[in-house]
Amino acid sequence: MNKLSGKHVLLGVTGGIAAYKSAELVRQLRRQGAEVRVVMTAAATEFVTPLTFQALSGHPVHTQLLDTGAEAAMGHIELARWADVLLIAPATADFMARLVAGRANDLLTAVSLACDATLAIAPAMNRVMWDKQATRENMMALKQRGVQVLGPAEGLQACGDSGPGRMLEPVELLAALSALLDTGTLAGRRVLVTAGPTREAIDPVRYISNRSSGRMGYAVAAAAVEAGADVLLISGPVSLETPPRARRIDVESAAEMHAAVMSEIALTDIFISVAAVADYRPASVASQKLKKTAATLSLELKRNPDILAEVAALTDAPFTVGFAAETQAMESNARDKLRAKNIDMIAANVVGQQLGFDCEDNALRVIWGQGEQQLPLAGKGKLARQLVAIIAERFALTIRGETQNPQGKVFNIHAKDSA
Ligand code: PMT
Repeated sequence: MNKLSGKHVLLGVTGGIAAYKSAELVRQLRRQGAEVRVVMTAAATEFVTPLTFQALSGHPVHTQLLDTGAEAAMGHIELARWADVLLIAPATADFMARLVAGRANDLLTAVSLACDATLAIAPAMNRVMWDKQATRENMMALKQRGVQVLGPAEGLQACGDSGPGRMLEPVELLAALSALLDTGTLAGRRVLVTAGPTREAIDPVRYISNRSSGRMGYAVAAAAVEAGADVLLISGPVSLETPPRARRIDVESAAEMHAAVMSEIALTDIFISVAAVADYRPASVASQKLKKTAATLSLELKRNPDILAEVAALTDAPFTVGFAAETQAMESNARDKLRAKNIDMIAANVVGQQLGFDCEDNALRVIWGQGEQQLPLAGKGKLARQLVAIIAERFALTIRGETQNPQGKVFNIHAKDSA
């Protein structure tokens, strides 16, 4: 399956003659299985009609920042969150300048500012404009902020000049996007991610659970796929779509999650335990619905297996990453868990009071034996990519023996990987 399949590509079109090529780009993206939504600036609509992009993308085109109807359906924040990648093609000199300035005075600049996803621009302008110091400085500033600058190409321009400033052809942009969305840092690796809550049955209709939505774990699974890994997601009950190219096993209780993880762990290189696994379950499950009789009711609970600790204790344990959900003393509690569970890395987050659980954004403190890194508040998609980048780096160092993991573990490098 190709790397663009199932990806959400938000295409921003600004006012340049190359906008006509972006119509073809939409067609090609959809042929690769990507979902495409289009935002146009007012100037862009002078070159190509929104109807063209609507017909090709299969979705209404977004043009207005202050359009109450559009905001109600999918406003600029939703569009920004929806995107796996935001590509602005063509990107005019003026739009680049407005990006550098951090303007948000039309829909596309507002979406760009609100978007945590990878941002790429395909500049297109007259060769003299491209050569001007102002444009060069803007391009450098954008690159330094992590914006991917794709092109421009050299050649004959619409104005009759010849030189650098032509927008890359749709087929070249397609290849560049594929490469951007697949970092390859975990190519050939098997990654097992757990996500979501577990449900511990009390009787046939009731259960104990928690507020995990699964978003963080699903974002981690998607980021691992993007990094080239073969990803298995073992998920508690959530209402999220499986990330493209990940395999998914659904479970309900901690016991089921434990059984699924243990039966799949053998060929795993990296285990990332994002699930909010219930620590306890009712000691016995009533076979019939409990009746409301006494004024109080006590439930006896017994401990669930600690899946993460059990995986870390395996003789050929994979590289193990846990999460710590804390309402207080986050860092010291996380360090305690890192030691007690004997794992390689822990990502700590504050939860409760609309933090961590069941929300779009999060912040993580990632801690391992020899170091730590703070990942500031951001969308869970962006955070997951940052976390996976750290995991890939630590994993690579560990298997090369360049760093001593806390347990002095020897990793199980599978035949297919070392071949
Ligand atoms: O799903 P979201 O709404 O996006 O919310 C994300 C999240 C807050 C659930 C996530 O970021 C997070 O913190 N996940 C870990 C939740 C948790 O159970 O933390 P804990 O500190 O109780 O557990 C420590 C670690 O042990 C976790 O990696 C957990 O998966 C694991 N564990 C816990 C208990 C158990 N019986 N088995 C385990 O494997």
